[in-house]
Amino acid sequence: MSKRIALVTGGTGGLGKAICKQLSDDGYQVIAGYYSGGNHDKAQKFQEEMKAEGYDIALAYGNIRDWASCEACIEGIHKDFGTVDVLVNNGGITRDTTLRKMTPEHWDDVIATNLTSVFYMTRLVINDMLAKGWGRIVNISSINGEKGQFGQANYSAAKAGMYGFTKAVAQEVAGKGVTVNTVSPGYIATSMIMDVPEEIRETIRKDIPVGRFGEPEDIARVVSFLTAESAGFITGANISANGGQYMH
Ligand code: CAA
Repeated sequence: MSKRIALVTGGTGGLGKAICKQLSDDGYQVIAGYYSGGNHDKAQKFQEEMKAEGYDIALAYGNIRDWASCEACIEGIHKDFGTVDVLVNNGGITRDTTLRKMTPEHWDDVIATNLTSVFYMTRLVINDMLAKGWGRIVNISSINGEKGQFGQANYSAAKAGMYGFTKAVAQEVAGKGVTVNTVSPGYIATSMIMDVPEEIRETIRKDIPVGRFGEPEDIARVVSFLTAESAGFITGANISANGGQYMH
């Protein structure tokens, strides 16, 4: 039997890379979606690095905040590999600033890239999953969608929006073998959190009961759990992995 296909958006980033490697270890043909403002060289470098580590990760270019670009991305995957069995909506950005300074552009950038993209990509793969009678969708939300965060009205709103989307779609597709869940990472040691000023970052770290930032692999393991064949009864759920920083 040919391998199932897993597409990870933002697949070449800090979290994405760990998810790609994990799903590859789980036996999927993994495709890393990337955009990086059209930086194909960066993606190719990622692919070579993966190859050197023994991972065969394919690449698919697409701007997840643009419907036509998402369509072209999925069409390309159809042509080269087949239909997507596992979609991990992982791509996202931050534009942190307090509300009093937030511009419509800060708002629109984050809502489009972090939330509207989840609709676009899910919409483009869902009918193939329903036709096959099997599929796994994992939306990477955030602790800050659960609790809100100073300086992240846009990001918190987008990440909280993912929960509603996940639970609505989970109900629509549950009877056809497709599950839809969210994972809510806490503060993970990637470049996204390195953008936070050092003194604020240190205050946040002190607030994490396990005493450290998470590792990308801490999240990849949760994605692996939710995408497994045996996880078919888990849908519309959210799994938090935040070192105890937020319990509810
Ligand atoms: N709670 C309450 N007050 C706070 C605060 C907090 N958490 N943080 C800062 N303040 C206060 C400051 O003490 C300061 O007060 P005074 O004016 O009385 O001195 C005031 O707020 C500063 O307000 P400004 O609007 O001037 O803010 P700023 O421009 O200095 O910085 C910020 C704002 C850029 C948002 C900065 O606070 C910041 O980077 N915060 C961290 C945001 C964050 O956690 N981002 C997460 C990135 S990682 C990620 O997103 C991944 C994930 O999913 C977890």
